[in-house]
Amino acid sequence: MASKSSTETAIMEKDVRTDIGVKDDARKKLVEILNMRLCDEYVLYTKTRNFHWNVIGPRFSRLHEFFEEQYEILDEIVDEVAERARQLGGKSLGTLEEFARHSSINEHPGQYPDAQTMISNLLKDHETIIKTLRKNADEAEEQYEDMATNDFFLEAVQKHEKMAWMLRAHLEGSDAL
Ligand SMILES: [Fe+2]
Repeated sequence: MASKSSTETAIMEKDVRTDIGVKDDARKKLVEILNMRLCDEYVLYTKTRNFHWNVIGPRFSRLHEFFEEQYEILDEIVDEVAERARQLGGKSLGTLEEFARHSSINEHPGQYPDAQTMISNLLKDHETIIKTLRKNADEAEEQYEDMATNDFFLEAVQKHEKMAWMLRAHLEGSDAL
């Protein structure tokens, strides 16, 4: 039971066919990919919210708000990714256990890094997700011939790139931290 891979949870609906011009196997693969990204996004959302709660230092107020702005955007992305899997006729993962098990973003329970380390950790995670999403966008277009999901991934890339830029800007001139 706990050993089931994500691919087995991301089954296709059989009762009402999803007839949207994407091959069934392609939709199945895309649902699997979307569920993997859902896990990444959910863990990054949680990590950002953790830092919103636990950040300390002279820039507490601004960083507390900044992390809130970022986790709110991630919350929206989480919802969009899960619902995209459903639009393609698949199931979305929806438990913390699955999110943690399949995420490629690591958590560090019990650790409370300083503000600058929090920001650089988040930046690294966004950059990881951006690179994976770019690869997924290519796969959606070239292997699975679904330009709509390609567009969906690219839109997510842009949202992450904006968040990554803001995190990076906090690190530049970091004497102020
Ligand atoms: Fe709060």
